Amino acid sequence: MNGEHARGRLVLQLSDPHFGTEQPAVVEALQRLVAKLVPDLVVLSGDITQRATAAQFEAASRFTSGLNAPVLVVPGNHDIPLLNLGLRMLAPYARHRRAFGAELEPSYETPELLVLGVNTTRAWRHKDGEVSAAQVERVAQRLRGAASGQLRIVVTHQPVAVTLERDQANLLHGAGAAVRSWSEAGADLILGGHIHLPYVLALHELTPGLARRIWAVQAGTALSSRVRHEAPNSVNLIRCEPQGQARCTVERWDWVAAARSFMAVSRHELRLERPPAHGSQPLPIGGYPGTPGQVVQGWFR
Ligand SMILES: [Fe+2]
Ligand SMILES: [Fe+2]
Repeated sequence: MNGEHARGRLVLQLSDPHFGTEQPAVVEALQRLVAKLVPDLVVLSGDITQRATAAQFEAASRFTSGLNAPVLVVPGNHDIPLLNLGLRMLAPYARHRRAFGAELEPSYETPELLVLGVNTTRAWRHKDGEVSAAQVERVAQRLRGAASGQLRIVVTHQPVAVTLERDQANLLHGAGAAVRSWSEAGADLILGGHIHLPYVLALHELTPGLARRIWAVQAGTALSSRVRHEAPNSVNLIRCEPQGQARCTVERWDWVAAARSFMAVSRHELRLERPPAHGSQPLPIGGYPGTPGQVVQGWFR
């Protein structure tokens, strides 16, 4: 086993940068963080721009092309023109495609990772997102074909689960059916953004009847001044263990203004649904090495 394989794989989730409202000092800090971490994949889970202007997409594209890492991008509601109704209805993704390519539902696959993007924006909705039955089934089919050693990640923009009453209206339309189907088909994580509030939720504990462990991983806004009062700019680092391990970790890195950098502030150890390896003991109930989903505060790299 070579060193790179032993380290596992790193996926960095950046969400809701809202170029046009990006903060230069935070942009520079994030560029430094990516250069330091060298992720195998950067995921942008929507709201790349603030108003879907050509200049904002160009700034976003310059940023991603400077990261020296593969970048998987799905659109958010802000990436569709709001006020230009002609463009909104006739070519809502023209600027997004010019910046990030024609594919609105990209995927990334290696022996250790299967990452599937879903376009949950709808031009006729204002900000609500939706996942259709056809999208649910398309993703489920890909998940059913996943290799046993792959961490399986689905990326949407709007959240499939929320923690606060006031965010109920922001839930992805069709999320219930999607979570059931993708869980059965083998998904491990569903990444989202949209509400600028980072958290990790055990969907299998919140949703009656789910047969497998599946986690919602939400990211805050990476770069925008549009932060929620309780949540500074942040990104999520997902550490995919070497093949065969039944866990992954999700670290939250917050922008710390006093240090002018992103710092690791919490870490979730997530137990995954995997058959025990031949000859090994199953993981103890309660998780590995602590409680699944437990937040370890003050954890630094
Ligand atoms: Fe947003
Ligand atoms: Fe959004």
